[in-house]
Amino acid sequence: MIYKGSGAEHIGFGNSIFVKRFPDGEIYVKVPKVEKKVFYIQSFYPGQNDKLLEALLTIDALYDNGTNEVKLISLYFPYTKQDKIFSEGEALSVKTVLKLFSSVGISEIHFINAHFLREEGFFREWGMDLYNHNAASLLKENIKADMFVLPGRGAYYLLEGENVFHVKTKRDEKYEDIGEKIFRKPNVFIEDLDVKNKTVAVVDDMISTGGTMAKTVELLKKLGSKKVIASAVHGLFVGEAEKKLSVADEIITTNTVVSKFSKVDVTPLVRNIVENYR
Ligand code: R5P
Repeated sequence: MIYKGSGAEHIGFGNSIFVKRFPDGEIYVKVPKVEKKVFYIQSFYPGQNDKLLEALLTIDALYDNGTNEVKLISLYFPYTKQDKIFSEGEALSVKTVLKLFSSVGISEIHFINAHFLREEGFFREWGMDLYNHNAASLLKENIKADMFVLPGRGAYYLLEGENVFHVKTKRDEKYEDIGEKIFRKPNVFIEDLDVKNKTVAVVDDMISTGGTMAKTVELLKKLGSKKVIASAVHGLFVGEAEKKLSVADEIITTNTVVSKFSKVDVTPLVRNIVENYR
């Protein structure tokens, strides 16, 4: 059985879970009658904290009502940028959030492009089975471009192919020994690309504040691109992001997070996950 949280209502199959607010703003959840095995789909943006609590309440209630297995499918997973300790005393946010899911009985999570995993496939982390699924090929199928430019560590695993370039934006940029997981290295310095009169799509795992994307788009324009498409799996568009991205000719994201730019539907990918991991 497939259930959807309030952040996943737009996915083209599965049943909604009843969610409402108490007058003081707290979240109320009521789950349907017992099902033996369940996939629970949720997107945790916008309103990460509320969506997290909603998911935890739902999963716990499903187990309380006789479900014996819940697998989480996360369209967009929160708190993944703090995936290491940058300075002493900091919370390792991604670990804490995963522990919360473990505490309500989750042992398997399917993510769409979780930022902290940086590669497609299976990972065993913090006692859980984690699968990182990649929606970038769905994006590519829907974008008409001569070249696809991937601008940084979080993006390098997204696409491969003849017209795909893993770029660095500073010639002396170092990608080794910085304590991060890096599975692929850049294959070209962006200014060495021949982009003159070409349509170029920049593809990233996410657009958050839009800074990384805007900088890359501007550079490609300066280098002579005819048209630049800003694209990402997850489009958060925090603060002034949309304004910054007015330098792009077009913006395209998937609907892991819903916005006016989420033009590519991830329902087929979610359906595959359900079919392959029952
Ligand atoms: C970085 O590792 C990521 O792949 C994205 O480039 C980054 O998260 C985008 O953030 P922002 O939109 O705030 O520049």
